[in-house]
This record gives sequence, structure tokens and C-alpha cells, in this order.
Amino acid sequence: MPARLQVYRAMARVLGTFDSLGWRVGYRYGDRQLLEKVILPALAREVGVGHVLLVGCAWYTRDYPDLFPTSRVTTLDVDPAKSPFGAERHIVADMIALAAHLPPESLDAVVCNGVLGWGLDSPDDIETAFASAVACLRPGGHLLLGWNDIPPYNAVPPDAVAALDEVYPRAIPGLDQHSLIALERNQHCYQAFQKPEARS
Ligand SMILES: C[S@@+](CC[C@H](N)C(=O)[O-])C[C@H]1O[C@@H](n2cnc3c(N)ncnc32)[C@H](O)[C@@H]1O
Repeated sequence: MPARLQVYRAMARVLGTFDSLGWRVGYRYGDRQLLEKVILPALAREVGVGHVLLVGCAWYTRDYPDLFPTSRVTTLDVDPAKSPFGAERHIVADMIALAAHLPPESLDAVVCNGVLGWGLDSPDDIETAFASAVACLRPGGHLLLGWNDIPPYNAVPPDAVAALDEVYPRAIPGLDQHSLIALERNQHCYQAFQKPEARS
């Protein structure tokens, strides 16, 4: 077994023990608090029993699936070593290959925070990844994007992604604005989009 996978498995076990004792270890920065305490719970209420995809896993996102208590949650990460931090339904794959793993229009929401510019870097890959995410969203489905508007992470900002022209800006769940800089220091932005409803 690769060493990183072993380390992350051990970390996930220890953190899981703390979690079960009510001692949650995570980041206390304002951008995370906003995401965990306001945005994701509000999105969970909107999604209800729907299917949510969380893209990109880390030790501090291990319990994000629990923020969607009524939803079906799938996680996805290209790095196999991050699997211990994923949900029970976890896909090891590049987001560019999403359409090979999930049917079209099968998702009610996609949360993609800290992936654009954090491994999903080339313009072509970014287009393919977001086109796939939009294709997998049902009409009316939500896309929550988190990214850092600071070099080197903002080489391809969302405004430059043609695939995002297929979704329209909407208010961030729990807030009344489409776009927000949640932490000045690293220019961590949240932006929310919605896929148009099907025309009858
Ligand atoms: C900075 S972490 C972000 C984790 C989490 N989503 C968050 O809220 O902070 C970036 C994660 O995205 C994953 N990642 C980067 N590029 C990816 C891609 N093209 N497809 C799937 N996962 C990717 C990395 O392996 C890494 O685990």
C-alpha cells in the first residue's frame, strides 16, 4: 500500500475517533466556518433527498458528507490516497472523466471548492471538467464553486471558463449574493450557479 494512503488512513481513523467524541478538528478560518456553518447546510436544505457530488477531499472535509443528512452524497478525488477522507460512495477519478462515472442529469448539486487551480489547471482540462459537471447536473441543479483569486491559483478564473456559460449565477446558499470573497488573505471566493430548468 502506498505510504501516503497508509498515513491518510491512520489520520482518518484518529480524526474519526475525535469526531465521535465531539472534538471536531478542522480549520477555524472564516472562509471554512462560512462554508461549514452556513453555505453547505443551506445547500443541504435545498437539495433535500437529492444527490450531491463533493469534488476534492482532504482531512478537514472528511465530515462534509454529514452536513447533507438527508442527501445521497458522492465524493470524488483524482488522488487515490485521499480516499480515506471521502464518503462511503467515493470515486477515484479526474473530474475531467466525471461523465464516465455518473449519468447525465443525475446530480442535484456539485460542490467544487479548492480544485480549480489546485490540480485542475490546464484550460482544456478545466473546460472538460466543468462541461462534465454541468452535463451531470439535472436541470435546476446547483454548482457551488470555491476558488482563490490570487496567483498561481487564478490562472484560469471562472469568468474565462466557457462551460460555465451554460449555468447562470445565483445567490450562494444561505447568503444573498452570487459571489463573495470569504477570506481576504488568500482571496478565497465562493460563487454559486444554477443549471437552467428544462423548457417544456
Ligand atoms: C486543496 S484540496 C481541496 C479539498 C476540498 N475540496 C476543500 O474544500 O478544500 C484539492 C483536492 O482536489 C483534488 N484534485 C485536484 N485536481 C483534481 C481533478 N482534476 N479531479 C479531481 N480531483 C482533483 C486534489 O487531489 C486534492 O485532494
